[in-house]
Amino acid sequence: MPACCERSILFAAIVLAVAAHGLGATAPAALGQTKMTPPAPVCGRPLHPTPSETEGPYYKPNTPERASLVEATMAGTKLVVTGHVLSTDCKPIAGAWLDFWQANDRGEYDNAGYRLRGHQFTDKAGIYYLETILPGLYPGRTRHIHVKVRAPNRPILTTQLYFPGERQNQADGIFNSALVVAMRDTSSGKVATFDFVLNIGSL
Ligand SMILES: [Fe+2]
Repeated sequence: MPACCERSILFAAIVLAVAAHGLGATAPAALGQTKMTPPAPVCGRPLHPTPSETEGPYYKPNTPERASLVEATMAGTKLVVTGHVLSTDCKPIAGAWLDFWQANDRGEYDNAGYRLRGHQFTDKAGIYYLETILPGLYPGRTRHIHVKVRAPNRPILTTQLYFPGERQNQADGIFNSALVVAMRDTSSGKVATFDFVLNIGSL
């Protein structure tokens, strides 16, 4: 191929890449909605690893691979959780495994099946994207989502995500403010962002 044309193709690819990621453009989501790109991580210094938390009694392995846990008849407030999986030197981790599980709108876990359970893998930019509902409260706990995160061939981080402005946060002995998502309201539900930082050294 002539050098001129190779350069043109390369330029077009760069323009598309910038439009799709750097400028926060959108791509089709699993539910046919607009898929948001999370804010770029703030780098420039070593990041603090995401703290681990107890697994709790309700984890089930072998979850289905899916980015959306929402079902047609499911009650609750729609919620998107998105962000990056990063190393402590702020490098995005592609192909990281994330396994989410949570209570339903009434604070109940599905321990017989896999409702509100599912795993997914980060894309080439280290981004995950979960469509779910706001988990309900159950006695003794504040509102939370459980998750396991693992970079390829590295140890698993087991932790939980929390929500801002919850009255029960300070009364929950497991709650950790370092695990609170940033959240905002949109016309189609709530959008939460959180970057996981894995303590796996430099990539
Ligand atoms: Fe829980």
